[in-house]
Amino acid sequence: MSPTSHDRPHDADASSEPAEPARRRFLQSAAAAAALGAAPHLRAQNAPEPANAADTPTPPAVPAQPVRLDINGREYVLHLEARVTLLDALRDYAGLTGTKKGCDRGQCGACTVLADGRRINACLTLAVMHEGQRITTVEGLATTGVPATIQRAFIERDALQCGYCTPGQLCSATACLSEFAAGTASAVSADVRTRPAQLSDDEIRERMSGNICRCGAYANIVAAVRDAHAASA
Ligand code: FES
Ligand code: FES
Repeated sequence: MSPTSHDRPHDADASSEPAEPARRRFLQSAAAAAALGAAPHLRAQNAPEPANAADTPTPPAVPAQPVRLDINGREYVLHLEARVTLLDALRDYAGLTGTKKGCDRGQCGACTVLADGRRINACLTLAVMHEGQRITTVEGLATTGVPATIQRAFIERDALQCGYCTPGQLCSATACLSEFAAGTASAVSADVRTRPAQLSDDEIRERMSGNICRCGAYANIVAAVRDAHAASA
């Protein structure tokens, strides 16, 4: 005959825990663990607020260091933290505000400058990485006050409206013409293994596609680059 529920405690091994105290201890330890987990949160809630901003610990300063940059043929020694972008170094430390900050994340091209003749987004690179290179900004495109061919073409074609993107467009167009002259193919070149035959409007649009113009002056920008190319040819 099987035992009834009243019989079971008496049937259990003498060394076994009675069921009810074991369950109570389990619940107690679970509650203790939950309280420990919540403790940091509770401490944070109960922590006294700093009396004023002076009590807030300040992070250690990043030491500035001298950085030598060749900008538009002139040497600048700028004291910069290593985290300063080339764009901020140009605008805020060298005082060359011709280069514009649009998105500050490599999407608009407003900050385009030349480093050893190659176009780069100055917002995406650190100034300390460019020691020993020739940096050219829009201020350095003219020669002894005479506008460069591409600058004249932009004026003649009225290739700007607000002008915010124009410094980047001019630097980009300068490199675009050099790249084409050097035989560099683009994504729309008929055969990327051979020198593109001519700088068509499609080639110009593709090669200038990293430079956004929110005013939509694209038709005149393409015409200006086409004119500058024809003039230099
Ligand atoms: S500001 Fe550098 S790409 Fe827009
Ligand atoms: S002229 Fe205004 S953004 Fe290009």
